[in-house]
Amino acid sequence: MNKRVVVTGGAGYIGSHTVVELVKAGYTPVILDDFSNSTKEVLSGLKAILGFEPALEEVDCSSRTELLQAFDRIAAEGTIDGIIHFAAFKAVGESTQRPLKYYANNIASTVHILEASETHNVSNLVFSSSCTVYGQPDTIPVDEEAPVKGAESPYGYTKQVCERIITDFVASGSPLKAALLRYFNPIGAHPSSHIGELPLGHPNNLVPYLTQAAAKLRDPLTVFGSDYPTPDGTCIRDYIHVMDLANAHVSALHWLSEQENACEAFNLGTGHGNSVLEVIQAFEQATGVPVPHNIGARRPGDITAIFAEASKARHELSWTCKYSLEDALRDAWNWQCTLID
Ligand code: WQD
Repeated sequence: MNKRVVVTGGAGYIGSHTVVELVKAGYTPVILDDFSNSTKEVLSGLKAILGFEPALEEVDCSSRTELLQAFDRIAAEGTIDGIIHFAAFKAVGESTQRPLKYYANNIASTVHILEASETHNVSNLVFSSSCTVYGQPDTIPVDEEAPVKGAESPYGYTKQVCERIITDFVASGSPLKAALLRYFNPIGAHPSSHIGELPLGHPNNLVPYLTQAAAKLRDPLTVFGSDYPTPDGTCIRDYIHVMDLANAHVSALHWLSEQENACEAFNLGTGHGNSVLEVIQAFEQATGVPVPHNIGARRPGDITAIFAEASKARHELSWTCKYSLEDALRDAWNWQCTLID
């Protein structure tokens, strides 16, 4: 029987792409999602790619009772070999306006997941963390040994706290092994365009806003600041194709299965930095579609530059990025075009 993996937030952007790669790698995913930040259209997109709809439990992971009962049902059908925990709110800006929503959901759901793993002897946990745990690093590219600095937002702080909770739980003698995956900037969509990033409402992130502006669905893109100490004055980030990110989760599960005990953080980035203006230029070159944009004021809370030193994941997880920035932007545009129709 295929190894069964519970994927919390599996109907979300990164979660749904990871579900596809899990099935391709021979795992059987079980999605836990409450659709508070995704839509059920994702399930038909997954069916178009996979030929079937993955098993689903509609569950609010921040509700202890709901979550533990869902795990009881899933465990009754057989062993749970692993958990990938995506379910969390992730809008940096919103988290500063509604911190309690983020603390209650992101932290409580992680504690409940650990309780469920203990009850059902699950030994492998992959946790969706973030490069925001580094704040503005002193040196870039940033590696996993860099100090975890004061969080720049309640969102980033929930990731720091959850990493610490998991670390303490593993250190307490639990048989659980954990991989803490620190994402940089996920972008793009599945090459089939059956699934992609479904920002509900006004997109906060660069690429979904950029594609909507290019599709003339939004006002021109505002570049948040061109007076940063970077070559072209705009902020630098490490933009990674969501498919490469999804594959890293499969690699992390495989790595965990080979460990006696483990609680390790891994940077998941391309190792290259691109500025906002470079992303705009790469999009126009990759698609031939102009991006209406103007230069505006800096966005509070933005850091100047960050990109990954990703050799640890490359060596220990035997994982490398296969897609380029242009591939990701082209896939993002092709996905956007399915939404316009
Ligand atoms: C990228 C750059 C903006 C919108 C994200 C996630 C966070 C974490 C890290 C996973 C910045 C600029 C943006 C716009 C712009 N990922 N920008 N105009 O802030 O790096 O954070 O990655 O945990 O969850 O939010 O990503 O896409 O918002 O911004 O100029 O309309 O694009 O200033 O320099 P960010 P982003």
